[in-house]
Amino acid sequence: MEIKKQLSKTLKQKPDFSNLGFGKYFTDHMFMMDYSGEKGWHDPRIIPFGYIPIHPASTVFHYGAEIFEGLKAYKTAEGYQMFRPFENAKRMNNSAERLCLPELKEEDFVQAITELINIDYSWIPDVEGASLYIRPFMYGNDESLGVHAVHNATFAVILSPVGSYYAEGLNPVKITIESEDVRTVRGGTGYAKCGGNYAASLRAGQRASEKGFSQVLWLDGVERKYIEEVGSMNVMFKIGGEIVTPKLTGSVLPGITRKSCIEILKDWGYTVHERLLSVDELIESAENGSLEEAWGTGTAAVVSPIGHLSYKGKDHVISGNKIGALTQKLYDELTGIQWGKKPDERGWCLKVKV
Ligand code: COI
Repeated sequence: MEIKKQLSKTLKQKPDFSNLGFGKYFTDHMFMMDYSGEKGWHDPRIIPFGYIPIHPASTVFHYGAEIFEGLKAYKTAEGYQMFRPFENAKRMNNSAERLCLPELKEEDFVQAITELINIDYSWIPDVEGASLYIRPFMYGNDESLGVHAVHNATFAVILSPVGSYYAEGLNPVKITIESEDVRTVRGGTGYAKCGGNYAASLRAGQRASEKGFSQVLWLDGVERKYIEEVGSMNVMFKIGGEIVTPKLTGSVLPGITRKSCIEILKDWGYTVHERLLSVDELIESAENGSLEEAWGTGTAAVVSPIGHLSYKGKDHVISGNKIGALTQKLYDELTGIQWGKKPDERGWCLKVKV
């Protein structure tokens, strides 16, 4: 793919890389490419970061035709590296298939990101714990109010230098198990990374935040019985020495960090169960002391310890509200590979020289 480049005449002042938070700053450029039924994907371009002119009847505004991805680039001595970008490309195509948006060639997805980062390379933070978050997204922009599969779409990529997702950093977060709202159901869009799943989660998230929780832990939408995910991350529990994580039933996001952590844990000799885990079993394990550690996994969240789990008004403290030994070891291993400080024996990182 031949990408046209129009560089910005004025470059922004960079923020303090040691105090970034998450998703508040954006680099100087962005990538865009359009799709139509007649032309397919066309006009790939890198342009100055800015507002997007869009028709008010566009499908994205009315029927939620939107999907996205999240991955990160890490500064290295020779340039930078990305963690498993082809996995994101595959997942974006699975999401596109579910929402009737057009699929993209995996190599075009990765090329768009790489050429954009090469231009905005100086925005990759060189500060411990910070990285460049990459947000590819696609939206339908048919200029018509009829409800049908999308014929016109745009794929775009924006970049944001980030620190930790949670204000708590690597300190344990407080999570409440949601028993009223549901995020999605099997047969719905739970496995797709689409904006609608996040929109459905906002009310419960807001209620939780008013009560002092960082996020909610979702139960399945049919029986309201089985643990699913947090929304911003998948979850894992160490129960009686073994690892349990909700299986991918169709309503849980197939996290790339989740998949990577499972591989690492298995390589370390842990038994990892991907299975249905009922909230009753989880709470019982918290009460009888067999729940040793709990953590979330995600691109933004990385490996995030969970220190409090609340269910039906009762609070359960996990691992003394401290990061557990295995959670810390997993965090160190994963971030060590991502930052190029530990050997990448599984060939997960795409290294780019600049
Ligand atoms: C990510 O981890 O990349 C996500 O997309 C989660 C989002 C809530 C920030």
